[in-house]
Amino acid sequence: MYTTDLSGKQQADKIAEDPALVAAFEARVANDDFIEPKDWMPEAYRKTLVRQISQHAHSEIVGMLPEGNWITRAPNLRRKAILLAKVQDEGGHGLYLYCAAETLGTSRQQMIEALHSGKAKYSTIFNYPTLTWADIGAIGWLVDGAAIMNQVPLQRTSYGPYARAMVRICKEESFHQRQGYEIMMALCAGTKDQKRMAQDALDRWWWPSLMMFGPPDDNSPNTAQSIRWRIKRETNDELRQKFVDVTVPQAEAIGLKVPDPALSWNDARGHYDFGDIDWDEFYAVVRGEGLVAKERMTARIQAWEDGAWVREAAQAHAMKREAAKLAAE
Ligand code: 3HC
Repeated sequence: MYTTDLSGKQQADKIAEDPALVAAFEARVANDDFIEPKDWMPEAYRKTLVRQISQHAHSEIVGMLPEGNWITRAPNLRRKAILLAKVQDEGGHGLYLYCAAETLGTSRQQMIEALHSGKAKYSTIFNYPTLTWADIGAIGWLVDGAAIMNQVPLQRTSYGPYARAMVRICKEESFHQRQGYEIMMALCAGTKDQKRMAQDALDRWWWPSLMMFGPPDDNSPNTAQSIRWRIKRETNDELRQKFVDVTVPQAEAIGLKVPDPALSWNDARGHYDFGDIDWDEFYAVVRGEGLVAKERMTARIQAWEDGAWVREAAQAHAMKREAAKLAAE
């Protein structure tokens, strides 16, 4: 991951921080107060937030691509309208999150450049291809389902602008999860081929969805500090377990089989036990070796370049209005 702080912020990082300020900050966090943009905060806290929020924003924007690919091929008008609205929602989430990150002293331009140059991470899940219509159901059900599991606790993250952005995002993600599950329900109640298509999508998306929560806690360099700062409220493994516990009965309810021979209910733990995740695959995708990683970045860069005239026009309009306002004063 990277940090996109302005250079002034990076210099400040090297200056020793006033212990009284640090203590006051930590007391506020411990008291569950929100930290706001103009409040003093340790530089490492700021950097961690920029890293996480910008990664999250990039994930929302790149996440539009696998589903956008199916808008023209949705099976009917109702499905097309719903999918269009969902993909637009994801664009909106990206924008709220870029704005939240900007309040920490980084610019949109810096974040986008970091994404396009390959310096910035985004969620591994979006480097897998969407091969059939059932993949759109599986993404809504599993990917948005995993996103909600991760994001509901973020509504209580310690940084105010991030927490507030998450409130609306979670409401919309909840609708996304339901529309995905409803697609899977319809396919499972359909012909044998449709049910087979749904099972195939579950088989391909299950393990990558579990990887979305990040590396196991004992191999997660950021979790302990982020929990201490109350940026993260639950660890990667805790959230992954919750997701498995909620999702397995949903699969069973529509007659699908989770592709994990080691999956079994553990009465003593009160949770499902599940098989080993292929962490080599996870790290390969993080390194940019995902199946469609190159296509994703090419599409993002193309969209950014194609949109240059819109940004220029908006800027020219803003300057004209500012000039008119000054002239009227
Ligand atoms: N994909 C890509 N990189 C990942 C990753 C994943 N699934 N999981 C972890 N990583 C990266 C981390 O960014 C970190 O990179 P760094 O050390 O170089 O900075 C490294 O792997 C180690 O992981 P950690 O567990 O130590 O990192 P974090 O404490 O930041 O935890 C996280 C990772 C759980 C993803 C956390 O950043 C988080 O909760 N982020 C906010 C939610 C988010 O980004 N969601 C994206 C999902 S998709 C989405 O929301 C779109 C929706 O529409 C479906």
